[in-house]
Amino acid sequence: MKSLKRKGARSLLLPEFDKYDLYLKSVQSPRREVEFLQATYKELRGERARVLREDFCGTFKLLCEWVKEHPEFEGIGVDLDQEPIAYGQEKYAQVLTPHQQNRLKVLHANVLSPQLPHADIITAFNFSYFVFKTREVMKEYFLNCHRTLKKNGILTLDCFGGYACFEPNEEETVHDEFSYFWDQESFDPVTHHAQFYIHFKRKGEKKRERVFAYDWRVWSIPELRDLLGDVGFTRTHVYWEGTDKNGEGDGVFKRVETCDEVCESWVAYVVAEK
Ligand SMILES: C[S@@+](CC[C@H](N)C(=O)[O-])C[C@H]1O[C@@H](n2cnc3c(N)ncnc32)[C@H](O)[C@@H]1O
Repeated sequence: MKSLKRKGARSLLLPEFDKYDLYLKSVQSPRREVEFLQATYKELRGERARVLREDFCGTFKLLCEWVKEHPEFEGIGVDLDQEPIAYGQEKYAQVLTPHQQNRLKVLHANVLSPQLPHADIITAFNFSYFVFKTREVMKEYFLNCHRTLKKNGILTLDCFGGYACFEPNEEETVHDEFSYFWDQESFDPVTHHAQFYIHFKRKGEKKRERVFAYDWRVWSIPELRDLLGDVGFTRTHVYWEGTDKNGEGDGVFKRVETCDEVCESWVAYVVAEK
């Protein structure tokens, strides 16, 4: 019997395009991040962290994993954009138990606001704080974090670099059902301003260009550490990622004092102690 499916009908069968779901599958590892945060706090402070504030939280998947981790853990999210917050409420927070939901609070606010709740750990992940392009504004942000951390608090930032980020380039990562593209369109060596895009291409569909766009300054680790020291953080640390047998990052981050690895691209954590 002839199939009723017409040519091109495959796309009709694809689920609705969900940019936040593809983003999660491409660039987020909330479970691993919870483990890293808790292990790092324990290593530096000798005790367990309870309250996590996720600045630039977007869909706040990290916080949902945090409140699942322990019945006393609390999560606070801060983001300027109501769209990802609403998505996170519908897709991730709804499936939490009422007790977990009660320990989660998401604020539609600017991370520079002076009124933010205090926390044991503040995170700014996926390089979101690179949106601050001047030393003055970055300093204002770090000061605000320092002020709103509890006594033993830590600030955790991720950071990237490598010689690939000094020139335009586009990298494709192939997943089972789609490809993820990290596109660096420009880099200005004088200002370190750079324009990035995320594109996606689902199987059987045209590539969707510029689904997410980031207009950032690429900050270096020593610049960040200097600024963190200037606003009063007592010590800063760098956690560098190990390398697997294919030469890729292995997802295991260890504290280092120096590094002689020459990488096309790398991701590291910068952690600052109050
Ligand atoms: C790259 S997304 C990061 C999402 C998530 N943190 C992650 O790890 O993938 C950046 C987010 O920062 C938010 N944002 C940008 N500037 C902000 C500000 N000044 N205060 C609060 N949120 C801000 C945007 O609305 C966006 O949701």
